[in-house]
Amino acid sequence: MKRIPQILIIAMVLALGIAMLPGQARAEYVIKFSHVVSPQTPKGKAADAFAKLVNTRMAGKVRVEVFPSSQLYNDNKVMEAMRLSDSDTTGIMAAPSLSKFVKFSRTLQAFDLPFLFNDINDVHTLVDSDLVEEMTQPLQRKGLRALTFWDNGMKVFSIKGSKPLRNVPDDFNGNKFRIQSSEVHAAMIKALGGTPQKLPFKEVYTALGQGVVDGQENAWSNVYSKKFHEVQSYVSVSNHSYLGYLVVVSNHFWKSLPADIRTELTAILKEATTANRQFAAEADTGDRKKVEDSGYAKVIDLTADEKSEWRKATAKVEDEFRSQIGDDLLKKIHTLLGH
Ligand code: LMR
Repeated sequence: MKRIPQILIIAMVLALGIAMLPGQARAEYVIKFSHVVSPQTPKGKAADAFAKLVNTRMAGKVRVEVFPSSQLYNDNKVMEAMRLSDSDTTGIMAAPSLSKFVKFSRTLQAFDLPFLFNDINDVHTLVDSDLVEEMTQPLQRKGLRALTFWDNGMKVFSIKGSKPLRNVPDDFNGNKFRIQSSEVHAAMIKALGGTPQKLPFKEVYTALGQGVVDGQENAWSNVYSKKFHEVQSYVSVSNHSYLGYLVVVSNHFWKSLPADIRTELTAILKEATTANRQFAAEADTGDRKKVEDSGYAKVIDLTADEKSEWRKATAKVEDEFRSQIGDDLLKKIHTLLGH
C-alpha cells in the first residue's frame, strides 16, 4: 500500500484544527439551536443553559451551538430546514412559539385561545399532563420531534395613541395589531374590535415605530428586550393568553442518534425546562418593572370588570376553532383545568 507522506498528514491535522473554532471541542454530533428572541429572554437563557450543560457533560460526543435573534433562521424557515434536513450528524433544534405550529398540528391551536388559562399554573397543569402527547404526536409525520415545552409568559397588549386599551371594542376600533402567524390570534383581534396583521417577530419593532401597525401583543420579556415599549404609548396588562414554546428537532436526526445520547439529551432538556420556568417567572415581574421604570410606555392594569368584558367579547373564538382543535380535546382540557 502506498504510504501517505508525513508532511501531508501534518497538513491534514493542522487543517482540521483550524476548521474548529477556539473553545469548541470536536464532537460526533452537532446541534444548531436557532431562535428569534434575545439571549436575555426566558427562551434565550434556557437555550444557553441547555448548550452549556450539553457542552460540559457530553463534551466530545455532542456540541450545541446557539444562534439567537433570528441570526440563522426565522421561525417559518427553521421548521422547513428541520423538516428537509437529512443529516445524521448535524441536527437543527428550535423553540418556535406554539402559535407557529398550526400547519403541523391543529390541536396545538388550543394554546392560543384567549382566556383559556387563568394563569401560568394552568398552563403547567396542561403541559405536564398526558393530553399534550396527542397534541404533539402529529408532528412526527411532518418530520419534527417535539421534545419539551418552554414558557415565556402571559401576554399583554400595547398601543401607540392617546389612550390605553381598556374598553372593547371601542379602544381597538380602527387600530391595527401585529400578530404571529396564528388564525386564532387573528380571530381574537377581530373579536376585540381591531384589525390583525401577521408579521415576523424580526419586523415588529420597525413596524410599530413606522406606524405600519398601531399595537401588538406579547410577553413582557419580548416587549422589553426588543424595546417595543419605546415606540408605544401604553401597555395594558391583560394576561389574555399564553406565549410559550415547543422545543423541536428534526425527527430524522433524532432517530439517527444512539439511544444513550438521546437519553442524556432528554435528561438535560428536562433540567433546562426547570430553569426556563424560573427565568420566565423572573422576567414576568422583572421585565414589567423595567418597562415601568423606563419612562416610555405607561403600564395600565385592567380592572376585573374590563377584563370580564374582554373575556365575553372573545368567548366566540373557542367555538370558531372547536372543530379544528377537537371538541373532545377541549372538553378534556377544561375538565383538567377545572373551569
Ligand atoms: C413572536 O413572534 O411574537 C414570538 O413568537 C417571538 C418568540 O419567539 O417569543
